[in-house]
Amino acid sequence: MAPPTPPILNGHSETVIAQTCQTYNLTPSEFAQLRDRAVAAKATSYSPYSKFRVGAVLLSTGKVNAAVTGERSSSSSSSEGTYTPGANVENASYPVTTCAERVAFGRAITEGHRGFKAVAVATDISPPASPCGMCRQFIREFCELSMPILMFDKDENFSVLRLEDLLPLSFGPDQMGIEGAA
Ligand code: THU
Repeated sequence: MAPPTPPILNGHSETVIAQTCQTYNLTPSEFAQLRDRAVAAKATSYSPYSKFRVGAVLLSTGKVNAAVTGERSSSSSSSEGTYTPGANVENASYPVTTCAERVAFGRAITEGHRGFKAVAVATDISPPASPCGMCRQFIREFCELSMPILMFDKDENFSVLRLEDLLPLSFGPDQMGIEGAA
């Protein structure tokens, strides 16, 4: 049987946000940053073919040696962690298109960020869109299975699921005998 569709929650209700934060180990400030930055990232989408804008943002709390990755960063850090944005980048040869989630992870990983605490995506539709299958697998490489993925709709309402719910029985670095980057 298919798993139940997650409810769509009010993305601006203090009560809902407090409950979500408690369940997924986020602070209300982190939730608000994830929501606002995912929505803002939509504006950077290059999607002339589909006109379907997707914004993504990753919250991370760790970093690998700066010497490996260089000094430059397009992510924004605070004492709470680092927010790395991304958006979908389309191509005249349609399959070459890259989704927002993979753009964000490519940027974060090459900047040395690790220890992802949450991923947020935002689109202009409702109900909210969830990451495509390829992106779920891409995320699996770098994140704990319990990590929450927040999906915001056109009105900034949201659904939330853990990676393991979006990608059950998944295949990852552990099956290949390495620890992985989570
Ligand atoms: N898209 C994403 O950016 N993320 C997803 O997880 C689903 C799809 C983009 C790809 C393409 O530019 C547009 O949405 C329509 O498929």
